[in-house]
Amino acid sequence: MISRNDPCWCGSQQKWKKCHYPALPPKSLALTYLKKYGIILKTEEQIQKIAKACSVTVKILNAICNTAKAGVTTEELDVLSRELHQKEGAIPAPLGYGNPPFPKTICTSLNEVICHGIPDQRPLQDGDILNIDVSCIVDGFYGDASRMVMIGNVSKEKRHVVDVSYECLQRAIQACIPGAPIWHIGQAIEDYATSQNCSVVNQFVGHGLGLEFHEPPEIPHHYNKSQIPLAPGMIFTIEPMINLGVRDAVIDPKDHWTARTKDGLPSAQWEHTILITETGHQVLTLGTNYEY
Ligand code: MF3
Ligand code: CO
Repeated sequence: MISRNDPCWCGSQQKWKKCHYPALPPKSLALTYLKKYGIILKTEEQIQKIAKACSVTVKILNAICNTAKAGVTTEELDVLSRELHQKEGAIPAPLGYGNPPFPKTICTSLNEVICHGIPDQRPLQDGDILNIDVSCIVDGFYGDASRMVMIGNVSKEKRHVVDVSYECLQRAIQACIPGAPIWHIGQAIEDYATSQNCSVVNQFVGHGLGLEFHEPPEIPHHYNKSQIPLAPGMIFTIEPMINLGVRDAVIDPKDHWTARTKDGLPSAQWEHTILITETGHQVLTLGTNYEY
């Protein structure tokens, strides 16, 4: 029996394995992505389940956003969130997540808070801008989305950062086509943000998700060199955090979660969960009854 390292039967003087060795069956793309990048390309069944988790996420996010008005505390929004998760048979992913364990079911990030704000007793005030971030687990699968809510009359500057972060997310989504490298996403975001005199936070990134809350790959929102090509079946978040001033974030030394802008200027963020399809993308967390 001829072995792989023997000379090929054709007389080429090359090893059989380098010459006429029968071609191995092509490795599936899913196996390649898992081995090379740790990325789980989702099956059709998994996509259906994650899409369901995303639609529950949006339903809960809609209701919380519509309740966020002047005089309401973010603690009250968290209580509402607990009720809604229970009603939907969903588990709030943030509760108990990380170290120290995140203490609430949603993140509420006000004004100069970039992300990971903890709901508290402070009533919302006229002029506030608030990010509400809902991540839920339904039947073991994950969805993740966040939006900005403007309370009453918001200054021109704050409206600017809210609008710019929204447009950054829209442009990033348009960059999501199979074969495009991950860096195209950050380029779309940072090009637009800087053209509008805003900065892009680089200490937090979007992420794969679905079977876990945070999976590979990282999706940077700033200029980067990630060459990983987007592939059908990839599911990840894009959640650009855009600042009116400097990009730097400072984490609260007491609660170890709240991330604030270093200069105290406002920050805004919008987030969607995206599926890469054969022909482009599908936004899994599109809302139905929320106006922006
Ligand atoms: N969308 C945020 C993220 O992916 C939600 C954070 S929840 C927290 O990081 F528990 F980590 F704060
Ligand atoms: Co997220």
